[in-house]
Amino acid sequence: MAFHSIPYDSLQFNPFTKIGQQWALVTAGNASGFNTMTVSWGALGYLWNRPTATIYIRPQRYTKEFLDRGDTFTLSFYPASCKAALGYLGKVSGRDENKVEKSGLTPVFSDDAVYFEEAELVFVCRKLSRTPLLPDSFLDGELDEKYYPQKDYHDMYIAEITEVLVP
Ligand SMILES: Cc1cc2nc3c(=O)[nH]c(=O)nc-3n(C[C@H](O)[C@H](O)[C@H](O)COP(=O)(O)O)c2cc1C
Repeated sequence: MAFHSIPYDSLQFNPFTKIGQQWALVTAGNASGFNTMTVSWGALGYLWNRPTATIYIRPQRYTKEFLDRGDTFTLSFYPASCKAALGYLGKVSGRDENKVEKSGLTPVFSDDAVYFEEAELVFVCRKLSRTPLLPDSFLDGELDEKYYPQKDYHDMYIAEITEVLVP
């Protein structure tokens, strides 16, 4: 199915449940190599006079290698029928298995963006900043203890949403 662009300001959804409960895939790379992983922490907003998406990626993720190599990535959302696939893509690393093939999702390659045919919404994103969340960033000290026992602090990526695609 061909995807088409819609204006970002025509979107109507609850960003909290969209990211936190529906989950999403962060996919980086291109036709010659890419990887994808599930995320449920993130933000959508408006910064530096443009629509932005923020994602938080731990250093050990294989997807991070692709994310750091290129300028763009996609953040894509799927119907409930794909939830098991998202669970799998969020549990297994692309370093260990050909997880995209096993997930049953069908990659779509468009310029430097990779997403999946089953998506119901895709944000094409251009990286603007990458900021490590360091232990001294936390004003609430419990966060460090609770979420980083292995000291694997997230990198926070803020990206411009350059295109919103729907089927
Ligand atoms: C529901 C869910 C949400 C997740 N959210 C994040 C996240 O926001 N950031 C992150 O670094 N990892 C997150 N993960 C973990 C990665 O998706 C998981 O480690 C994945 O296997 C990494 O794959 P990769 O090594 O192929 O990149 C999440 C996993 C699940 C199941």
